[in-house]
Amino acid sequence: MSELERTRHILETRDFSEQNLAFLLDLHEPQAQEHLRATAYAAKLATVGNQVYYRGLIEFSNRCAKNCYYCGIRAENAEVERYVMSAGEILEAARWAFEMDYGSVVLQSGELSSPANTDFVEEMVRGIKDLSGGRLGITLSVGEQAEDTYRRWYEAGAHRYLLRVETTSRELYARLHPADHDFDARVDCLRLLGKVGYQVGTGVMIGLPGQTPLDLARDVLFFRELDVDMIGMGPFLPHHQTPLADGEGALPPQDAFARALAMISVVRCVLPDVNIASTTALQAIEHTGREKGLLAGANIIMPNLTHTRYRTGYQLYDNKPCMDENAQMCRGCLEGRIQAIGESVGYGQWGDSPHAGSRPGT
Ligand code: 5AD
Ligand code: SF4
Ligand code: FES
Repeated sequence: MSELERTRHILETRDFSEQNLAFLLDLHEPQAQEHLRATAYAAKLATVGNQVYYRGLIEFSNRCAKNCYYCGIRAENAEVERYVMSAGEILEAARWAFEMDYGSVVLQSGELSSPANTDFVEEMVRGIKDLSGGRLGITLSVGEQAEDTYRRWYEAGAHRYLLRVETTSRELYARLHPADHDFDARVDCLRLLGKVGYQVGTGVMIGLPGQTPLDLARDVLFFRELDVDMIGMGPFLPHHQTPLADGEGALPPQDAFARALAMISVVRCVLPDVNIASTTALQAIEHTGREKGLLAGANIIMPNLTHTRYRTGYQLYDNKPCMDENAQMCRGCLEGRIQAIGESVGYGQWGDSPHAGSRPGT
């Protein structure tokens, strides 16, 4: 059987075993790759349509207590200048998003668990709710926290939470993090978030040192088992001031890019009604990377709203795009890119995934 025939067969019968998913993630024949992409794109049109929803991204602080070996803002990187946006700056960015009809914002930072930080995030959530009369959707992406903290922020008005599991291979997780970063604790947080009531987003990095197609296949099955609403995935890109700077054992950028697109397509086929982000990291490898992510099956874009003054301080990986462009420039640029591929922006809507809407009680 050719790769194309087997790909067709797997997708038609929806026989998504680990082995079959690993096969789809490692296709070599261009026709088979294109068949996977086209099937995913058709599934996207049938479930979430061709409207792209925006999540205005506010990277409000690069302070982090953790030390993930891959990340440019890890606590032990003494070269980064640390910043926290002021409450006024954060609310101004959110107001701009609201006026531009972005529908929702994401507050993202490194991971801190101090009471002061918990209060600050809560205050920002309330402030954003107030300034938009409750109309701006709020997603948080601020790491592992206690149940009570998650609850407080939820009650303040945040309704979505992003926490990437990074990889579901315990072995790989242990190689990418110091011993006190615990895989089980992270998965517990994901379950807690769902229990509290959030729409939950997770995801993984692709092309990590030693990561196999089978590892990624298991990641996809984990997303399904966890019953998540949102997925954000991107290629691993080495950062020069981290222990993984040399990228040894990682996929070369072009291969990580291709595999990241294949992951988007596979996730869209397995979980047709979730929201999938076309992440900025794709654009770090290819100029039109985010468009390609949309064509592979993604339907969410996170335009960066962070003030240019802070952007260089929030480099999780090297070659991050839009370092000198402000929110207004990215707005025009992204709209052009989206229209160029025949899609449109779903302005002024929260853009919840049909999956989230279909769950009883939400
Ligand atoms: N390359 C790609 N993605 C990275 N992230 C952190 N460091 C890197 C890197 N070097 C991702 C992680 C994290 C998200 C906010 O950014 O998946 O969850
Ligand atoms: Fe901190 Fe997140 Fe970077 Fe890990 S990936 S060091 S938790 S900002
Ligand atoms: Fe930021 Fe193009 S997306 S300038």
